[in-house]
Amino acid sequence: MSDELQRGLEGVLVAESDLSYIDGEVGELQYRGYPIEDLARNATFEEVLYLLWHGELPDRDALAAFSESLAAEHAVDDAVIETLERLVEADERPMAALRTAVSQLSASDPEPDADPEDFEASLRKGRRITAKIPTILAAFDRLRQGKEPLEPREDLSYAGNFLYMLTGAEPDDVSEETFDMALTLHADHGFNASTFTSIVIGSTMADLYSSVTGGIGALSGPLHGGANQDVMEMLFEIDESDKDPVQWAKDARNDGVRIPGWGHRVYKTKDPRAKILQGKLEDLAAASGGSKWLDYTTEIEAYLTDEGLVEKGIAPNVDFYSGSVYDHLGIPMDLYTPIFAMSRAGGWIAHVVEYQEDNRLIRPLSRYTGPRDQEVTPIDER
Ligand code: COA
Repeated sequence: MSDELQRGLEGVLVAESDLSYIDGEVGELQYRGYPIEDLARNATFEEVLYLLWHGELPDRDALAAFSESLAAEHAVDDAVIETLERLVEADERPMAALRTAVSQLSASDPEPDADPEDFEASLRKGRRITAKIPTILAAFDRLRQGKEPLEPREDLSYAGNFLYMLTGAEPDDVSEETFDMALTLHADHGFNASTFTSIVIGSTMADLYSSVTGGIGALSGPLHGGANQDVMEMLFEIDESDKDPVQWAKDARNDGVRIPGWGHRVYKTKDPRAKILQGKLEDLAAASGGSKWLDYTTEIEAYLTDEGLVEKGIAPNVDFYSGSVYDHLGIPMDLYTPIFAMSRAGGWIAHVVEYQEDNRLIRPLSRYTGPRDQEVTPIDER
């Protein structure tokens, strides 16, 4: 056993997985061997979920049955809505509200005593959780605006139903396709921090609700999922300041500020998902005639590239362009990370079930660096 310390588990192999292949040097991502570009163009999020959970792309009949079973699980209990009402009153943040509500979902799971080694039952739980996350988020957003939550629509796609429940209007084709694609791009990404958190919890054979709740907690941090909101906040800050984007980035660099949406533990070149979202942003900007966010992000990217960041392995990641895309779709900024969770839950569930099929409790070591053999002084003598 090596006693070399691997801070942040960087570069440490801990498991084998058939789910996502990532080449961080060339900027490549595949789910079960299918390039992300191909999936984004030619498969819906429902197909991607099926692929991740069942190992192959569905045919038409399998997809219809799967989509129907997913849509049938969208509705949440009144008790969950009541919890959301209380969280709105307490001014809770959306990621924390989602974490609380997902945890509560287990109370109404119809198979509470399912054997953790019954992986089909786990996937059914996973399907329920994934189906209910959009309903929770849309309800939370409407409640905080003083509006009634809307009943989910089983006749719409996963992406379309979420946008409908959020806005109260059926989305147009471009919005639905764009959002569906964004969900596909975020669905899985190897052993990232939130997926690993879910797997650590799953390795104790705890149930899937615990794994997904833990994954949401890990994703909420600014070094992980929270970066997409940070990027949008940066763009708004630039817009409200008297600086142009390049001057803003220059000052941020001089102040030692990390540029949100840049850098990645695995990608040492531009994230392939960022390239796809950038293309989508170009389409949205052209269609809407509003290219401000596209211009800002493109100018910042060109400046930081000239400054040699990309050469050093710090390049745009998926979050750099996703926020601008969501802004075009009219999605509130503080829902960007929860939306990431909506999609990534699919990956968490796939990984936990895959890991549990050949389970080994995850239990690393730490090197003790504190004092030893101290004596306890009675409290009155301290
Ligand atoms: N802007 C400017 N410099 C950055 C940077 C960024 N966004 N990200 C990393 N760097 C620099 C660090 O300052 C460090 O430089 P140094 O060696 O001169 O000190 C070097 O790159 C390595 O950084 P490190 O923190 O060791 O990399 P990491 O692999 O631990 O970090 C992230 C990965 C994602 C945590 C980091 O890049 C980051 O904080 N990015 C911004 C947040 C973000 O977008 N997160 C979403 C990831 S999908």
